[in-house]
Amino acid sequence: MTPAEASAARAVDPQGFDIDRVRADFPILQQEVHGRQLVYLDNAATTQKPASVIEALERYYYLDNANVHRGAHELSERATRAFEAAREKVRGFLHAHDATEIVFVRGATEAINLVAQSYGRANIKQGDEVLLTEMEHHSNIVPWQLLCEQTGAVLKVVPINEHGELILDEFDRLLTKRTKLVGIVHVSNALGTINPIKTLIHKAHDVGAVVLVDGAQAVAHIQVDVRDLDCDFYAFSGHKLYGPTGIGVLYAKQSILEAMPPYQGGGEMIEHVTFEKTTYNKLPYKFEAGTPNIAGAIGLGASIDYLRTMGLGAVSAHERSVLRYATQRAQEIKGLRIIGTAGLKCSILSFVVAGTHPADFGTILDQLGVAIRTGHHCAMPVMQHFDIPGTARASIGMYNTRQEVDVFIDGVARAKRMLS
Ligand code: ALA
Repeated sequence: MTPAEASAARAVDPQGFDIDRVRADFPILQQEVHGRQLVYLDNAATTQKPASVIEALERYYYLDNANVHRGAHELSERATRAFEAAREKVRGFLHAHDATEIVFVRGATEAINLVAQSYGRANIKQGDEVLLTEMEHHSNIVPWQLLCEQTGAVLKVVPINEHGELILDEFDRLLTKRTKLVGIVHVSNALGTINPIKTLIHKAHDVGAVVLVDGAQAVAHIQVDVRDLDCDFYAFSGHKLYGPTGIGVLYAKQSILEAMPPYQGGGEMIEHVTFEKTTYNKLPYKFEAGTPNIAGAIGLGASIDYLRTMGLGAVSAHERSVLRYATQRAQEIKGLRIIGTAGLKCSILSFVVAGTHPADFGTILDQLGVAIRTGHHCAMPVMQHFDIPGTARASIGMYNTRQEVDVFIDGVARAKRMLS
């Protein structure tokens, strides 16, 4: 970026958000791909990691590596302190009441499977209903299908409209006394739609249903307060929050977690074992069988520290401005149709171009140094709704700029010329 471009970029950024500083914090962005400056617009698939997260992982493995909660030595104590400090950071990040409500898992997918198999198997019976939405990621569909096959419960689906918004009247119609659990995505990874989850949670509670929110695509863009939302479960993955892969979080209300049976058996989750009977550890360890991803949790803690330093409010405002610009520029391309035009959306620009296949845009843009994702984005029902095989999707993170959007849009226009 030239100094003039940098100052232009600053002019459009919300006050206090120093995009140059942010970009300098992400070493991976400073590279060329196929001879072009990398433009990374695949943040919904995974975000890049700031140096502070990489350093936290490195520090742990260089200096503190040991197993947690069991060793009688200094390294184990250090590792345990850092691991539990990370849990406390997640608690603060989600505004949860207590750190015992934070269960470390591999990612949002594992969190949802845990709820389906533990809470679901214990509480959802034949003829009960599980209410999902048409815009769910497969991770918030398949675990419930498995549960319904196992229990004889029935899956119901709230449809979306042509903008990719939930049809709220249909939600009201499908939510009944038979509904035992509602699974809703906070932000759609395929459309960018932000769902009015607080209202939906309130309605679900009125009929006695519990609510699981899939927050995988939300936490990097929206302030989440699980107590204010009053959700029963909230799931997210660390790697979409500028943290490491292989670590994620299940938040659940303490009273619900207390009553849930264990999901996996093994070390860490036990209190006492005999061949006759095993008693289980206290929360949250009852749900953390086996040696946890200690480094991952510490890295996630570092990513939360990083976001706090940047200010999630400033990050969101910056991303909104970049998405608005990208949307305007995309609309200049004749024949391009944006999939996902909800009034309230963030981060995602999904599109198709008449007469072309989305995958071809990915290939051509890659040659220009621009990383996007193409395909169904693990949300096949969304593609079925719009009667398309998939979309090309640019997804914006805190380090993206308008200049990068220009490179991307020029690339899309060029690809379209080549493919038409
Ligand atoms: N669910 C991730 C995505 O949207 C992988 O790309």
